[in-house]
Amino acid sequence: MNNVTIFDHPVITHKLTYLRDKNTGSKQFRDLVSEIAMLMAYEVTRDFETKEIEIETPLQKTKAKVLSGKKVAIVPILRAGLGMVDGILSILPAARVGHIGLYRDPETLEPVEYYCKLPTDIADRTVLVLDPMLATGGSSAAAIQYLKNRGAKSIKLVNIIAAPEGIEVVHNAHPDVPIYVAGLDERLNDHGYILPGLGDAGDRLFGTK
Ligand code: PRP
Ligand code: URA
Repeated sequence: MNNVTIFDHPVITHKLTYLRDKNTGSKQFRDLVSEIAMLMAYEVTRDFETKEIEIETPLQKTKAKVLSGKKVAIVPILRAGLGMVDGILSILPAARVGHIGLYRDPETLEPVEYYCKLPTDIADRTVLVLDPMLATGGSSAAAIQYLKNRGAKSIKLVNIIAAPEGIEVVHNAHPDVPIYVAGLDERLNDHGYILPGLGDAGDRLFGTK
């Protein structure tokens, strides 16, 4: 599927293994989510525009490149997307941060919106939507639609683990949105959980349950 990048990097794969492990506690889980998000940011930003400026090294004048494209907004889907914010901000410290609150109705698995606060100039920014889990795809697809309704034109979706079903749903609804996934899993179970997955990302991040 074009527009979908599945990461194949030994360091990310290593961290993903410990993220999945049920014996990994909340502190280590949070650290791993943040570190994986930071590593993913390198690839997600690969097509960012640059321009040449003139600088002076201690030895001579030279031309060198700096980022020049659209400003960036990162938008975590609450709650679990929050765990990816610091990792991305460590690479893109000037990014603005918006929030979209969605939870999955446990019966229907449909996303229910309960909060939204976005930078006022969201339409002019490249928007990185963050959610560790892409399961049925309902939450990510709804968040992207919400951002489009608010005028966003350049959107990328960043997920740590995805089910093939979720990728298909988001890709069909939003073929213009590139999807970045650290680990592509096998399938969903009857309750919409990703297999093998890592369980409930929000609960594991915040120690709820
Ligand atoms: C989880 C996860 C995603 C969503 C993925 O959130 O963080 O947002 O489920 O499932 P989907 O692709 O089928 O929509 P959840 O609804 O459990 O809320 P939480 O982050 O507050 O725990
Ligand atoms: N949300 C999660 O946190 N985990 C899953 O496996 C599916 C949805």
